[in-house]
Amino acid sequence: MSKTSWKPGTMLYPLPPVMVSCGTLQNPNVFTVAWTGIINSEPAMTYISVRPSRHSYHLIKESKEFVINLTTADMLKAADFCGIKSGRDTDKFAQTNLTPVACAHVKAPMIEQSPISLECRVTEIKPLGSHDMFLAEILAVNVDEKYLDQNGRFALEKSGLVAFCHGAYYALGAKLGTFGFSVEKKKTRKQRIAAIKHERKALKKQKKEPQKTLKKKPRKIRKKAP
Ligand SMILES: Cc1cc2nc3c(=O)[nH]c(=O)nc-3n(C[C@H](O)[C@H](O)[C@H](O)COP(=O)(O)O)c2cc1C
Repeated sequence: MSKTSWKPGTMLYPLPPVMVSCGTLQNPNVFTVAWTGIINSEPAMTYISVRPSRHSYHLIKESKEFVINLTTADMLKAADFCGIKSGRDTDKFAQTNLTPVACAHVKAPMIEQSPISLECRVTEIKPLGSHDMFLAEILAVNVDEKYLDQNGRFALEKSGLVAFCHGAYYALGAKLGTFGFSVEKKKTRKQRIAAIKHERKALKKQKKEPQKTLKKKPRKIRKKAP
């Protein structure tokens, strides 16, 4: 195999094309960002890199707040639109039929249609060249309850998340494994039977006391990150 060496570039894919909402509930704006990621686990921290020419840049610089909303296939046309049009001359929420909803910790609204919305507060702005990097603490994670099953598991895989890869958008493909599967020991027959029995018992209990089970505190959605 031989590889051709190219000049330095941003060839790191796939990335999430997130929709970043900012401004206020009364006067919101939303734009699309691919230069984003998680940069720390505790405290949970993220970044978005934004060109100073964006209308949103000034809103975020002033308020020091924004919300990252994950994008699904149903929201993709709106996400692309919000990445082309500027809030300077377009009411993007009205044009895309997205619904701004009040957040608990920041004045910026979240997007109702998104399965996960992260409320973020800027801790540092780092000018890097073409973009300024807004480092931010994640103050709250808002998840759509429709993806919480009766056991409190958050079925994010059902939300239809999309990826941005080398100029194009893609649906996520088949699940190939879970975290740590490469070193997981195969369960013995005895352990498999015990697991099935445990699950049946939980289902039986749930049928008997549906109210109680539904009130169960939802399980944390984030595993201890690497
Ligand atoms: C898929 C996609 C990813 C984008 N990623 C970024 C980004 O990471 N940083 C950025 O400054 N602009 C990015 N943009 C461009 C802005 O979203 C775009 O300029 C938008 O119109 C800015 O809106 P505003 O003027 O209302 O802030 C992206 C656009 C698309 C379509």
